[in-house]
Amino acid sequence: MTRLEELSARIDAKQAHIGVIGLGYVGLPLAIEFGKAGMKVTGFDLDEQKVRAIEKDTSYIEDVPSEDVAAARAAGLFDATTDFTKLSSCDVINVCVPTPLTKTKDPDVSHIVRALEEIRMRIHAGQLVILGSTTYPGTTHDLFVPMLEGTGLKVGTDFSVAFAPERIDPANKDFGVREVPKVVGGETPICTELATKIFSHVFADVVPVTSTQSAEMVKLLENTFRAINIGLANEVALMCDRLELDVWEVIEAAATKPYGFMKFLPGPGLGGHCIPVDPTYLAWKMKSLNFPARFIELATEINSSMPRHVTEKINDVLNEDRIAVNGSKILLLGVAYKSNVSDVRESPALDIMRLLAHRGAEIQYSDPHVRELDLDGTSLKSIDLTDDALSSADLTVVITQHAGIDYDRVVAKSHRVFDTRNATKGVKDGREKIRKL
Ligand SMILES: NC(=O)c1ccc[n+]([C@@H]2O[C@H](COP(=O)([O-])OP(=O)(O)OC[C@H]3O[C@@H](n4cnc5c(N)ncnc54)[C@H](O)[C@@H]3O)[C@@H](O)[C@H]2O)c1
Repeated sequence: MTRLEELSARIDAKQAHIGVIGLGYVGLPLAIEFGKAGMKVTGFDLDEQKVRAIEKDTSYIEDVPSEDVAAARAAGLFDATTDFTKLSSCDVINVCVPTPLTKTKDPDVSHIVRALEEIRMRIHAGQLVILGSTTYPGTTHDLFVPMLEGTGLKVGTDFSVAFAPERIDPANKDFGVREVPKVVGGETPICTELATKIFSHVFADVVPVTSTQSAEMVKLLENTFRAINIGLANEVALMCDRLELDVWEVIEAAATKPYGFMKFLPGPGLGGHCIPVDPTYLAWKMKSLNFPARFIELATEINSSMPRHVTEKINDVLNEDRIAVNGSKILLLGVAYKSNVSDVRESPALDIMRLLAHRGAEIQYSDPHVRELDLDGTSLKSIDLTDDALSSADLTVVITQHAGIDYDRVVAKSHRVFDTRNATKGVKDGREKIRKL
């Protein structure tokens, strides 16, 4: 039996020891799912606070209940560490580290490289390494594999490598980790086969593709599709603004067509670690092949112009009341990048706050999911959404539509409301106070 056949047998028997590098929004839920499937998991993170939290049976990810962490640990199926020497004892290593952009908006794969260096120091025959971080096509083949083969071991013979994009949607109650099919692409057929087997223990459906590049491109297509369609919805919002039409009414009516139309909504701009970032990874790669990714460039331009458009609209709304932005009191409702999450990465709220602060506005925010916020070195704290907080602001601006907010009260108590999400659509009284994107 070869070492990879031995691994295959251990996976079948659920005796493979799983490693997860990066215990964030993606890595922690994945680790917990492997534990639920009865497999032993070790999580690795550079962040000691995360490791300490897990040691105290505490989850810091909203979609993962602390009881799940406690149950996996009590069963002896989950531990977390900053000690990467323990990678040697893992049979399967999942890499779930961040893939942000640099200041100049180029892919920053330094976290992948750092994780890879830790693996390279410990890799041995019979291991399967799976990259789950979103990245440009070719990362696994051109970066990952050569670094690991630099040890003298051969992919497909001694060890396996696959790319399996993470498709988790934080706060989505309809589709949890297990329900979203897992796409896998291996460097060689045996790599695809092993990765398919391991994920079949956790995911209801696994979708193999023929290469790591293809699997990388699947993820970029999905997120580029969203970014471009949101870009279209945002441009339609800008058109409707110029035409003095209600974009929400137009989109909702169009969405009644039972075929050939898919609803995407406009908003204050894109946020999160995926949709604003991932298409740029693809555009960057295509640029290196002298191929301009025109749809991506256009959508990026439109989507990133939305915070400025929102600021202009705020200016107009205040102007109706003969109030200057400079010195005005503005209350933002929601700063997270989307509903019911605490994640503020790339949130358009941050840009809107910067633009308003630059124009001299006095800004406060209220977000039940984001207690504190660091805005370019200044710490801001969420305020309670009291009647007094609403009535003392010149303008209330809805940026994120979290569940549990009483918009009837928001409108009743606010001087005026600017709504970038159509969150106030069900409000009956006081509609004359509302202005929408
Ligand atoms: N957040 C999402 O909704 C989502 C969805 C699908 C895919 N993704 C992709 O998954 C990847 C991870 O995203 P995330 O949102 O989980 O990020 P995250 O920032 O929440 O978590 C990443 C974790 O990795 C740790 N880390 C960084 N470098 C490390 C290293 N060298 N070794 C060990 N740990 C390290 C960080 O401390 C952090 O805890 C990204 O490529 C992202 O694009 C994210």
